[in-house]
Amino acid sequence: MFADPTPAEEPAGPPPPVIELRGLGRAFPGTPPVEALRSVDLKVEAREYVSIVGPSGSGKSTLLHILGLLDRPTSGDYLLDGVSTAEATEDQRAALRGGRIGFVFQSFHLLPHRSVLDNVLLATLYSGVPRVERRDRALAALDRVGLSHRLEFMPTVLSGGERQRVAVARAVMTQPHVLLADEPTGNLDSENSAGVLDLFDELHADGLTLVVITHDAAVSRRAERSVRIADGTLTEVVA
Ligand SMILES: Nc1ncnc2c1ncn2[C@@H]1O[C@H](COP(=O)(O)OP(=O)(O)O)[C@@H](O)[C@H]1O
Ligand SMILES: [Mg+2]
Repeated sequence: MFADPTPAEEPAGPPPPVIELRGLGRAFPGTPPVEALRSVDLKVEAREYVSIVGPSGSGKSTLLHILGLLDRPTSGDYLLDGVSTAEATEDQRAALRGGRIGFVFQSFHLLPHRSVLDNVLLATLYSGVPRVERRDRALAALDRVGLSHRLEFMPTVLSGGERQRVAVARAVMTQPHVLLADEPTGNLDSENSAGVLDLFDELHADGLTLVVITHDAAVSRRAERSVRIADGTLTEVVA
């Protein structure tokens, strides 16, 4: 028997997970060394909305820094879109980070003396977005998060919720494959938190892949899937 030849236009199998961790560890030197992550296995498929929930000191930020290619594991491997990052050079990692990953942090990380529009535009410097497209993309992203009426404002005069929405616009305007958020509501009151979580729901409905790291069970429950982290070890939360 002979298999039919595969037509060139036929799509190859299912896409790889956006994120795959294989036996990943991160130890910090010391006496004794700190094993912040221990043999972590995790797959995040395209369009998933996953929360990683755990108490202070459990390894959440260490994990997020590795997922964001801001830090390297000391053992195991991290595949981004099916490609191993273990052997990548710093330049290759920077290119992957700029082109495929969006970040949202607890403390917003906005430039205080630049306008809302500039803060979002600056995100495209290292992302490969063509210069002529930058402004239109930034305006579209700010419209997406409901801040078209704040383009020339400085971040210092915005509410915490508005600042975090600027940070989300900045993160998504490069059309990342995954949005990584570290305690995104940690500095917000309940009303502003609700606004940011509603925005995450909308982005997820639009097809964005999200990984949200939090110590807050209520924030964690907003995701469609939750993973618990304790002492650097992950376990799936069965709903
Ligand atoms: N640069 C570092 N050097 C040594 N230990 C660290 C470093 N970063 C984090 N740790 C330790 O690793 C563990 C996990 O830290 P972290 O990932 O920041 O936890 P979380 O974000 O969940 O609060 C903690 O015990 C912390 O003290
Ligand atoms: Mg942390």
